[in-house]
Amino acid sequence: MLRVKQAKQIEGTVRVPGDKSISHRAVMFGALANGTTQIEGFLTGADCLSTIACFRKMGIEIEQKEDRVTVQGKGWYGLQEPSSYLDVGNSGTTIRLMSGILATQPFHAVMEGDESIAKRPMRRVVAPLRQMGAKIDGRKEGEYTPLSIRGGDLQGIEYQSPVASAQVKSAILLAGLQAKGVTSVTEPHLSRDHTERMLQAFGVQVERDGCTVKVKGGQELQGRSIKVPGDISSAAFLIAAVMMVPGSSLLIENVGVNPTRTGIIDAVRQMGGKLELVNERVVNEEPVADLRVTHSELTGIELSGDLIPRLIDEIPVIAVMATQATGRTVIRDAQELKVKETDRIATVVSQLRKFGANVTPTEDGMIIEGKTVLTGATIDSMGDHRIGMAMAIAGLAASGETVIENDQAIDVSFPGFAALLEQISR
Ligand code: S3P
Repeated sequence: MLRVKQAKQIEGTVRVPGDKSISHRAVMFGALANGTTQIEGFLTGADCLSTIACFRKMGIEIEQKEDRVTVQGKGWYGLQEPSSYLDVGNSGTTIRLMSGILATQPFHAVMEGDESIAKRPMRRVVAPLRQMGAKIDGRKEGEYTPLSIRGGDLQGIEYQSPVASAQVKSAILLAGLQAKGVTSVTEPHLSRDHTERMLQAFGVQVERDGCTVKVKGGQELQGRSIKVPGDISSAAFLIAAVMMVPGSSLLIENVGVNPTRTGIIDAVRQMGGKLELVNERVVNEEPVADLRVTHSELTGIELSGDLIPRLIDEIPVIAVMATQATGRTVIRDAQELKVKETDRIATVVSQLRKFGANVTPTEDGMIIEGKTVLTGATIDSMGDHRIGMAMAIAGLAASGETVIENDQAIDVSFPGFAALLEQISR
């Protein structure tokens, strides 16, 4: 159980753990590359450890010492058929990206995860990979885990994705790297582009045009060193804490500010929050900066359209922050929230209401009326790391004490979260 007391002030200079999306990809691409890949700043959260365990099970030597990881890549076809099922834990990124990789492999593998993974839709990757020629099965015609994959002999496709999903885009592009001809993916809005950037860093040619990405089959990856920046999705919790507790300020160093991920910065600024990027630089094809965040009085806004994929994982904590903004915040076009680690429209609403917040679910988002006085409550993370953390941040602005039950879920993406909160709270 995590106990959070109302904070008088948030202050300090901090770093957040490594980016989850980039950490997963660094291990996967390192395993498929020729030669060694050294990773620094790796996220040691449970999700990325699941990715390491899966590749070890396929015969890849991976050494991990805290946030330093060395992957001995054996080339694209250096993976071995696993002798038992691959456990992806809670990680959607692991199962969906690995589906694309396994679709290219001349062997059989089965992937399975926890209760949350068992409820998440897989046909979004299974359907296009089947079109390319992979044999994939799962419960409900391949919609749900366990997924059983027998790959090999793929044909490139031109795929129009119905959803803006980096996991779908990445799975198809990875399969496309070993398919005949060219593979292209077009999405309705641009999703995070870490796969495209990191493939280029590993020596792969990737063509981009708006929301379309293309790769030619038959390309190899070369091992390299990767420095992982701090995760802006983790920094988002601290940004919200500063905006919710009067008199607060924080310097969050070394945060990834890839434009496909900075919707939270745009949203906070639109709400009237003071947030500056300092010391901007580029590290391994990824923009990085320090964030100077100062408490500000916020106003409600409307979030929709192209902005949504750029802040999809931050919506739980944006909803929390909106309870302390003056006026109405409306979140639309975010139906993807329903198929995250939990149905995040339902879980945000049910948990936030326990504090006395005025929040109403809608078909594709929610409406939050501010400002409301929050009262400390007993909250359930519902096994969802971002719900646990978002509610802990609400606890900093709520009177009395807040208890987060099932707080072990937080380790999925932010090990050390509770200690960091304590360090910056006065
Ligand atoms: C991720 C993509 C996003 C995001 C998830 C991580 C990734 O999901 O929500 O936490 O690393 O590719 P989508 O694939 O639905 O965009």
